[in-house]
Amino acid sequence: MEYECREERYVSLRAIISDIHANLEALQAVLADIESQGIKEIYCLGDIVGYGPNPRECIDLVMPCNVCLLGNHDQGALFDPEGFNKGAEEAIFWTRNVLEQGGPGSEKRWEFLGELPRMHREDKQLYVHGSARNPLNEYVFPEDIYNQRKMERIFALVDQTCFQGHTHIPGVFTEDLNFYAPEEIDFKYQLGKQKVLVNVGSVGQPRNGVPQSSYVILDGDWVYFRRVDYDYETTAQKIFAIPELDNFLGERLREGR
Ligand SMILES: [Fe+2]
Repeated sequence: MEYECREERYVSLRAIISDIHANLEALQAVLADIESQGIKEIYCLGDIVGYGPNPRECIDLVMPCNVCLLGNHDQGALFDPEGFNKGAEEAIFWTRNVLEQGGPGSEKRWEFLGELPRMHREDKQLYVHGSARNPLNEYVFPEDIYNQRKMERIFALVDQTCFQGHTHIPGVFTEDLNFYAPEEIDFKYQLGKQKVLVNVGSVGQPRNGVPQSSYVILDGDWVYFRRVDYDYETTAQKIFAIPELDNFLGERLREGR
């Protein structure tokens, strides 16, 4: 799938990434894909750490992003983790230990994480990790289109477009309660008058059935869904070698689940 530059662009051109989860191989592959298209502006919707084996390296790579939000796993590493399953919680404690070990850049990383905002608003666009209603923790899954009450309340808080992550499942939710996976819309969607929620998918732990990283490019009023190959086997092997990280966290990368 090739991203085609359109001549009438330059209204805004940015990459939006989310849910890196300390997966260095995935983040490097996505940043290379972004760079190869001449895109300079990157927004990150949170969950830089948690689950994966390279929290320090990933924080360092994300720091220069133009906008970066706090995710629930980032918050878990900063404070007491709440509401996580056992594997996720153990990964958060391991992550905190790694970040607390000190060494070069340690203080700067804590400071960076500690100052991340929970949302970002720009014109009629909202950027959150989870949802407009609960930026840090609420999941908006594809099946929520059948939960009219929930969706109406969330859409009421959105002026036009809300970019979000958290579920690791990319796609577009429309105000008339449809969900479109990227492959159903040829990996692109034109923003119009209708309000939409755009889930950008996950860089470091895809759960949409493909073992590739997801992110989006916003080019004017077009959203392009990208998929990027990365060396998930290397990441999985690193996870297997760390006793505190559940092996399942490596196995799931092979299938994107
Ligand atoms: Fe996440």
